[in-house]
Amino acid sequence: MNPPAKPVRRELPPGPKGTLIGGSIREFSEHRLDFFVDVARKYGGLASFRFGPRRMFLASDPDLIEQVLVTDARHYIKHFGARMYKPVLGNGLVTSEGDFWLRQRRLSQPDFVKNRVLSYAPLMVELTDRMLSSWTSGEIVDIHFQFSSLTSAIALKTLFDLDDAGDRERFSETLRLAFDLMSARFRTIFRLPTWFPSKANRQLNRAVTELFKVVDGFIAQGRARPEPGNDLLSRLVSAQDDDGSRMTDRQLRDEMMTLYLAGHETTALTLSWSWYLLSQHPKVEEKLIAEWKQVLNGRTPTPDDLPHLPYTDAVITEAMRVYPPVYLIGREATCDLELGGYRVKKGYTIFMSQWVNHRDPRHFPDQERFQPERWLDGLAKRIPKYAYYPFGGGPRVCIGNTFALMEAAIILAAVGQKYRFTRQPDAIIDISPQITLLPAYGIPAKLERR
Ligand code: HEM
Repeated sequence: MNPPAKPVRRELPPGPKGTLIGGSIREFSEHRLDFFVDVARKYGGLASFRFGPRRMFLASDPDLIEQVLVTDARHYIKHFGARMYKPVLGNGLVTSEGDFWLRQRRLSQPDFVKNRVLSYAPLMVELTDRMLSSWTSGEIVDIHFQFSSLTSAIALKTLFDLDDAGDRERFSETLRLAFDLMSARFRTIFRLPTWFPSKANRQLNRAVTELFKVVDGFIAQGRARPEPGNDLLSRLVSAQDDDGSRMTDRQLRDEMMTLYLAGHETTALTLSWSWYLLSQHPKVEEKLIAEWKQVLNGRTPTPDDLPHLPYTDAVITEAMRVYPPVYLIGREATCDLELGGYRVKKGYTIFMSQWVNHRDPRHFPDQERFQPERWLDGLAKRIPKYAYYPFGGGPRVCIGNTFALMEAAIILAAVGQKYRFTRQPDAIIDISPQITLLPAYGIPAKLERR
């Protein structure tokens, strides 16, 4: 199908020229967050630059973002960066396209509707309590490590009904190795195809084979259970499409890997950055404690409590504004298109950056300041829809957003009523923007029992 014909300018949108060969790849590799902010501020809502021969646009006008993610969604696919994770994620929801993606999304969607997600709350509470009982007041921990381990345990339990510490360890280790090798591949400029038997490719292929063996074992265990449990695998195993077809083992593996990877680190980052911000804003923390005291009075939160915790919600919303766990998404045009009056040729990449939009002073005055109050009087309804989009938008919006928000609120309230974190004065907290917005050296803090 052809896109609607609109008048387009023949020239490119304004933007940095970069170097003759690399274009702007160096600026992107060295300081990508500042690079995107600078480009948007200097060149406006649609800017253009190159990575080597590849033409890129940065769309930062919320209406143009909506056009890419929603209105013209059918003319775009995921960008080249997302496709690079196919060796591990296969044809899962994040990396698949077209009718295949739609079918998989339809089969998985029922597991992410609100009622189903609510049924995971007791488990989230139980695993959080398990983490809390392992803590000692006065010890120094890396907050991000703690929350990553917790959200990983929650993901493995909700996805595979996996409880065994040995299984968890085996999975995390094989995954870490495969991902480290994938990321090393990502950083090299000239990449050989994964089938080429170079040393790096052989290592990667070995690690991925090992990882798949572990996951296939979990799937076989899931299939062999006489009674289906309250885990996603149990339901996906029996989910049927309209024509009666089910997912193959290969599809199940791709989806489980995808959901695990897309879900646990992002939610852990929401919690880690929230605590980091709270440790610097004692007044906000005080208000949060007051809300919990009034609504929960020391009790563990349940999903029914969440609508009565508006300040908790505002803290999470604001933390994801200041430190969006996913700070960059991209699409590639599948045909010639129009955007903002310019021509987007087939193959061009459009980047959209939450880091840029969430710091736009037109929508968020005093944009660097952590100020949950700004959300309390209906700001979300007054700003353009794509001025704030931590979960993306359109047909490819995050499938796990309800899950993630509930998980973050429950953990924040369960942990915060028992412990406070004090930042270590000499700790260096730096951002390392990879696929997600990681803390470069973790977030060390002292635990103090309240
Ligand atoms: C705070 C936590 C989370 C954040 C910030 C987040 C963010 C995002 C974003 C921005 C996208 C869209 C990417 C794009 O358009 O290219 C996305 C997609 C996705 N997310 Fe999340 N996510 C979170 C939690 C989760 C959880 C808990 C799960 C699953 C349990 C999950 C599963 C997925 C999947 C499968 C997709 C791809 C959907 C599709 O293309 O159909 N995410 N996420």
